[in-house]
Amino acid sequence: MAATGGDYIWIRIPAGAQTVLLDCRPTCLRLGIALAFSAPGVIGIVAGIQGYCAIRGGGRGRRREPEEGLNLPGAAKQELTMSKKQKTNSKQSRPTSVVTGAAGFLGSNLVDLLLSRGHKVIGIDNFVTGSVDNIAHLGGHPHFKFIQQDVTEFIFLDVPVDYVWHFASPASPIDYLELPIQTLKVGSLGTHKALGLAKIKKARFLLASTSEIYGDPLVHPQTEDYWGNVNPVGPRGCYDEAKRFAEALTMAYRKEHGVETRIVRIFNTYGPRMRLHDGRVVPAFLSQALKNQPLTVFGDGKQTRSFCFVSDLIEGIYRLMMGSYGLPMNIGNPTEMTVLEFARQIIRATGSRSRIVFKPLPQDDPKQRRPDITLARTRLKWRPWIQLDAGLAKTIEYFRARV
Ligand SMILES: NC(=O)c1ccc[n+]([C@@H]2O[C@H](COP(=O)([O-])OP(=O)(O)OC[C@H]3O[C@@H](n4cnc5c(N)ncnc54)[C@H](O)[C@@H]3O)[C@@H](O)[C@H]2O)c1
Repeated sequence: MAATGGDYIWIRIPAGAQTVLLDCRPTCLRLGIALAFSAPGVIGIVAGIQGYCAIRGGGRGRRREPEEGLNLPGAAKQELTMSKKQKTNSKQSRPTSVVTGAAGFLGSNLVDLLLSRGHKVIGIDNFVTGSVDNIAHLGGHPHFKFIQQDVTEFIFLDVPVDYVWHFASPASPIDYLELPIQTLKVGSLGTHKALGLAKIKKARFLLASTSEIYGDPLVHPQTEDYWGNVNPVGPRGCYDEAKRFAEALTMAYRKEHGVETRIVRIFNTYGPRMRLHDGRVVPAFLSQALKNQPLTVFGDGKQTRSFCFVSDLIEGIYRLMMGSYGLPMNIGNPTEMTVLEFARQIIRATGSRSRIVFKPLPQDDPKQRRPDITLARTRLKWRPWIQLDAGLAKTIEYFRARV
């Protein structure tokens, strides 16, 4: 099966049941297709060639440094709350959004929302934790383009850009424990490159930050003015500190270069396109329950979590980007429950015969997590609308087809 998508082509190779995105600009087309059809084993080589071509911007234009071409005198004096409306940089009325981490759980759901709201979207991802399956349905979409690239490298785009949504980062504990240096690099160098892109394009920038910046919080529920309780040298330090650095860098670009920035602190989110084995509690419980295996609860299960359905979260993030609030904002569901209660709810919702087993609590596991969403309620008129039952039903349907 093949479908075109602007400069790229989506090809499903039956033998490996793999989907690859090929760059079909003239320099890459012949070689890429020849390799794709020769044998399924060459998929990696094809992806490598495609990534190389995308980074090079199709060979057109010279590579520019992120600082070049900017002339924003006095911008540093701008107040933190800026204009409500941003003019579209693109000549057409359709704004252009760049989404880093576009092949991930949240990034791909964001891409869908942006396309449905009339944006052109350029997705960037290196697939380190994401999957091509999350964007395969966009093959042939006239307003979606994809670039396979590591965002810690310079991001070259020769089109106007209105919004940069920086979502690239390993996000689950399993991923960032396995990839601590990549996690720190994407939070620091990756955020620097994404901010550089926003600056040079005079685009608005949104950082996907996290409730993890509060660490194991001593204040409950967590308000945005709480500074957190993070162990920088503990196992979660690579993720927490990467995001804390990313927030600080975002604020520096705002103050120093006048980039219009937004920071969302995302609390636990669940829904379709989460990976079955990414180690987060929702997929972990669901995959165990759907296989009738014991559900693993860490500690005594009395630690609390709150879970936001993905469509609610993405709506809140969209409102934040389009609004005028420039300081960090929590988006999440404040309905709190213990992990043990949640495990029981999963067993009920899936009709599973699983029992619950207990294992020792991992180091630095937060005991309580609940967002205070007063800011989001008042500034964005946002609240979570999807009840846990309804969100779980949609997620279970997605996971059932995959276990
Ligand atoms: N899902 C949640 O509950 C949650 C909570 C808090 C914060 N967040 C933040 O939201 C963002 C998305 O999280 P997610 O749950 O979708 O995770 P995910 O792992 O599904 O998606 C992250 C995506 O970023 C890509 N990526 C990682 N490093 C990259 C790099 N150097 N260059 C290019 N692409 C790269 C991955 O391949 C993946 O597609 C992350 O920044 C995460 O920190 C998520």
